Amino acid sequence: MSRFLYGIDFGTSNSALSIYDQEKQALLTTISIPSLLYFPDDQDPKKKTRYFTGQDAIEGYLQSGMKGRFMKSIKRVLPRSSFVETKIHTEMFNASDLVTLLLKELKKRADTVTGVDVKRVVMGRPVNFDDYNKAMDDLAQRRLLKAAQNAGFEEIRFQYEPIAAAFTYERVVQKPERVLVADFGGGTTDFTLVELNPERRHSKDRQKDIRATGGIYIGGDSFDAAFMWEKGTPYFGRGVEYESMPGKILTVPRVFFDNICSWESMNFYNSQKAQLDLKKYYSYSKENPKLKNLITLTEHNLGYSIFQSIEKTKIELSTQKNSIFEFSTLDIALSENISLEEYQAIISKDVAKIDRYLTTFLETHGIKQGEIDSLFLTGGSSLVRSIQDIFTTKFPGIPIKSEDNFISVAKGLAYSGYLFE
Ligand SMILES: Nc1ncnc2c1ncn2[C@@H]1O[C@H](COP(=O)(O)OP(=O)(O)OP(=O)(O)O)[C@@H](O)[C@H]1O
Ligand SMILES: [Mg+2]
Repeated sequence: MSRFLYGIDFGTSNSALSIYDQEKQALLTTISIPSLLYFPDDQDPKKKTRYFTGQDAIEGYLQSGMKGRFMKSIKRVLPRSSFVETKIHTEMFNASDLVTLLLKELKKRADTVTGVDVKRVVMGRPVNFDDYNKAMDDLAQRRLLKAAQNAGFEEIRFQYEPIAAAFTYERVVQKPERVLVADFGGGTTDFTLVELNPERRHSKDRQKDIRATGGIYIGGDSFDAAFMWEKGTPYFGRGVEYESMPGKILTVPRVFFDNICSWESMNFYNSQKAQLDLKKYYSYSKENPKLKNLITLTEHNLGYSIFQSIEKTKIELSTQKNSIFEFSTLDIALSENISLEEYQAIISKDVAKIDRYLTTFLETHGIKQGEIDSLFLTGGSSLVRSIQDIFTTKFPGIPIKSEDNFISVAKGLAYSGYLFE
């Protein structure tokens, strides 16, 4: 058996790998990268497809003037049976192949640290990859398993992401605690209720300490989509009218705006028909400048940049009362002050869904308020004020704990070596 074990949290927005030294029974380090891929347009036909991962993917993409294939939120395609493969350059890539590229990058960096070709890994997975559907969930895990194998791992175990986060928190608890862990990521929100006990850290059987797990397919990406709909789409022509025939006024179809609200759906504009239709409405609307903005946005592949601006506003509103939502590129000039109240109203539907899910989760598992000793919040979206408000309102007086929001899952996966026993 090799001395090291890796824990990999393949996330919607960020992926991290923690190295555990099984001899020293300690974590060595954690490496993390944004879950992004970029395939430049200029490829050598005689060579294998060139690509970039993580931060290099962003840089390559921006330097190229946003040409080529840039991919974000790849985890979301794992449960989609409709996604079979995509052709990039001359090669076909299925969902596992895309994930493999990110896992390989993490493994390569970690192997440089350990100096060994490590074969043993605990892979994280959300409690539900999608709103509950067993077949889709199985498909997602199979694809993730294949990706881990392709990346060079041989001994592979899976662990729920929120359970991993709990084990990270366990490292700092002093006495037995019953903890409700909530992990708010880019794609999903996961809960688990666990019995933590510093004395059981190295125990081989942790299954009986896990009281309940559950999850919902809402995360930071959903907040960004809601924001784009409310605050972005009006600048790109939502609500613009055109004359379909003399005297008959209609609004431009909703499909054009639905499809700019998430990264994946922007592919809609890759079809020539969509582009031609859009130009038709532009002309029917007597060249409305907002539709011109939409033409610029989609022709110049500006999806990533505008979602960067949306995320910037979201992040600022985690600590400030106001933020300027700004996007000025080519002929698009957009700038608007957004107050925290306004932002909270925009994401309120998603927040309410999470709140309701948590209520049902507690009821279904018969968990009473008084049984919970502490709350452990993790994941980037746990920093959103409305999310924190759910907990202060629902559990008054129960202490809320946190640690590094972006790596606590990976660390806990690396602490999950008991799965190999
Ligand atoms: N300061 C912040 N305030 C609010 N949201 C934030 C902040 N920082 C990051 N986020 C959001 O957190 C999300 C990423 O969090 P995280 O890295 O935990 O997700 P992930 O693990 O990649 O996703 P998942 O677990 O769902 O697969 C993104 O939606 C990002 O916009
Ligand atoms: Mg996560």
